[in-house]
Amino acid sequence: MIFLTGAAGFIGANFVHQWLGQMDEPVLVLDALTYAGNLESLAPVASDPRYHFAQLDICDRPAVAALLAQHRPRALLHFAAESHVDRSIHGPGDFIRTNVQGTFELLEATRAYWAALPAPEKAAF
Ligand SMILES: NC(=O)c1ccc[n+]([C@@H]2O[C@H](COP(=O)([O-])OP(=O)(O)OC[C@H]3O[C@@H](n4cnc5c(N)ncnc54)[C@H](O)[C@@H]3O)[C@@H](O)[C@H]2O)c1
Repeated sequence: MIFLTGAAGFIGANFVHQWLGQMDEPVLVLDALTYAGNLESLAPVASDPRYHFAQLDICDRPAVAALLAQHRPRALLHFAAESHVDRSIHGPGDFIRTNVQGTFELLEATRAYWAALPAPEKAAF
């Protein structure tokens, strides 16, 4: 299984469709569903048994850690972001929170998960 953040966004949703169209491996996806997230873009794969969705904020390290422990992915792709440049001028705080703090929390949760993996899984992550 691979783990992907920001799946309801432009890049993430397109990645999920391409992944499930080409690979047998399941995908665990996370998205906070902000104004930028559109769950409709994932509707065509919602009933696919290889697809697992969690509505979560990447800033919530304990919740991300619990998700990692439950699903035990072998890779992480991080697409969750505040991405609209005009909004960064009018509301920069959200950008710092998600893009800086959120990325840090996600990486720390992932690092702790990775550190506890058995050697072969750790080497392959
Ligand atoms: N769109 C492009 O052409 C493009 C090109 C190059 C790089 N990128 C980069 O790829 C990444 C994704 O871009 P995009 O266009 O898909 O963005 P987007 O705004 O379409 O999607 C971002 C997604 O992240 C989610 N999100 C926001 N904050 C979150 C949080 N705190 N926790 C969990 N989910 C959260 C949103 O709900 C949304 O679904 C960004 O880093 C962007 O800079 C995009």
